[in-house]
Amino acid sequence: MITTCRLTKPGGALKNSMCGISGVVSHNEISSRLIDSIKSLEYRGYDSCGVAILNGKSKTIVRKDIGSVDEVRESVQLDDLQGFTGIAHTRWATHGGVTRENAHPHSSCDGKFSITHNGIISNYTTLRAKLKKKGHTFLSATDTEVIVHLIEDYFKETGSVEEALLLAVKELEGAYAVALVTPHEPDKIYCARMESPLIIGLGDDANYIGSDFNAFIAYTKNAIVMEDNEYAIVTHNGYSLKNITTRKEISRPIQRILWDHKMAQKGGYPHYMLKEIHEQPSVVHSALDIDQQQIDDLASEIDRKKQVVLTGVGTTFYVTQLGQYYFSEYAGFTPNLVSSDEFKFLSKVDKDTIVLATSQSGETYDTLSALKYAKQNGATTAAIVNVMGSSMARLVDHLVLQGSGPEICVISTKAALSQMILLARLALSVGLLRENITKRQYSTYQSQLRKLPDIIDKVVNEKSGFIHNVAKEQSHIRHWLFLGRGRYYPVARESALKMKEVAYVHAEGMPSGFLKHGTIALIDDDLNSVIFMPTEQEKELYELALSSAEEIKARDGYVLGITFESKKARELPFTDCISLPQAPPLIAPFVELIAAQLLSYYTATTLKRNIDKPRALAKSVTVA
Ligand code: AGP
Repeated sequence: MITTCRLTKPGGALKNSMCGISGVVSHNEISSRLIDSIKSLEYRGYDSCGVAILNGKSKTIVRKDIGSVDEVRESVQLDDLQGFTGIAHTRWATHGGVTRENAHPHSSCDGKFSITHNGIISNYTTLRAKLKKKGHTFLSATDTEVIVHLIEDYFKETGSVEEALLLAVKELEGAYAVALVTPHEPDKIYCARMESPLIIGLGDDANYIGSDFNAFIAYTKNAIVMEDNEYAIVTHNGYSLKNITTRKEISRPIQRILWDHKMAQKGGYPHYMLKEIHEQPSVVHSALDIDQQQIDDLASEIDRKKQVVLTGVGTTFYVTQLGQYYFSEYAGFTPNLVSSDEFKFLSKVDKDTIVLATSQSGETYDTLSALKYAKQNGATTAAIVNVMGSSMARLVDHLVLQGSGPEICVISTKAALSQMILLARLALSVGLLRENITKRQYSTYQSQLRKLPDIIDKVVNEKSGFIHNVAKEQSHIRHWLFLGRGRYYPVARESALKMKEVAYVHAEGMPSGFLKHGTIALIDDDLNSVIFMPTEQEKELYELALSSAEEIKARDGYVLGITFESKKARELPFTDCISLPQAPPLIAPFVELIAAQLLSYYTATTLKRNIDKPRALAKSVTVA
């Protein structure tokens, strides 16, 4: 049976880590598929990687090194490998530095068991001491290595791989997605999950495992999403899924992945980031095409609650902050806003509360923790999520799947924009329900939203050249202030984050009102400012933004205005000015955001940064 429906809900404690794991088992040669699978997960971590492969003989071949998949491919000749069963790993270091020894897979003392792991084993020091006493030799500083030595130990005792895996994982505290191969059973991948994502892919001549769908989407769209406290034995022609505690067989419908692997290719663009910026017109269409009933159902739930809390972290915090402004303007009330990493320390939630989170990955530790905390305290939960089958998608009471397609660049652009649009739609629906806006206003706003894709299209196609030039000319600048007021303030903050994470240039996003309360002291030749100009319709905001620009100019500071085309444009007090196609206030912040995304992108390309995989970052931030 195949379904695209939502799956059941995860629960439990909250520990996790970042990395990608994958595996392939077939009766045909798998090495190129295995290498491809881990390359497709590189955005989950990219400081080192490795594979363990079996070719039917008595030995597992393990090759690993520091560097990206392409670098490791060369350094340890991954392409020379051959086999029918294999697992692979791409790492974002948590326990133990970035070294070859700490790269996965890790093997037992006798070399008979090799594992890859995503997660954090919190009791690993105790287990390591115990295993060392028993004579095990550790080659790495990772928490992971204890798992494989435990398995080796229990295998000696029981003579059964399945039994050894189960006894080993029962000793673990923390989070794990583990994949195991062994020449004792060379045609099987064993795997187990506790609070780290793990998915089984069911193909024609092979079966797969992966931390997410991208591991195998090029080969199959049929998947089984594993839940916490489950393990699986995967062979070339089947799988068996069981509960770790009861050992009972589990039957779960196959989930059909809606994404296409071509969507996750660069398609002629030099970087995923640029591709994803250019995809935004179609991503807006997708966000606008999401069934109105879904939005209205969530709007009714929001309307029923005494307290509404919006949450997210990093980019998604700024997304929800923009949502707060939209609710305030169009729905007639101001929801609370709490960054998900601070949620437990600040939010008081109960059964009269709805907590609405946004998340591209649906796996972010902070946001997932906030939602779990909300649930534990009786609140209703909702989320706007891009990745189907993700932990948040399965956890919440109300899910809106944003349908933005895979976002591969570690820097979020199109997914964030889509979430903003959905929050705007939601605010309009609540506004209509609460009669804060009339039906007529509501339909005017809907048609304004429909104009957004064409305007974005113009920005990316007609303004990129100019923005590229500004970025090149100003690429020596090490400090930027991004200033905005009202709904342009969250856009300023999000734009500053883009500059920091992709260009490694210090940037602060702040309300322009703050300038004269201290920050103006920084204005000098080493610091540039960007002002997000409101539309002329927003008179008060417009005048205030102009005064901020004047204040900076009066101190000989550089000011880049991001503004809308108008007769006045020439008289505006900017050093440089990015003039954008006119847009009504509802969609104006989205249009300016695109210009700022391009500014960061071109600053980063000028500075020759690693655009899609910036240093020290990872796409799914699943650690506390
Ligand atoms: C986005 O550019 C950042 N890399 C980061 O702030 C991200 O938005 C944040 O980690 C939340 O991720 P999520 O959307 O997957 O929950």
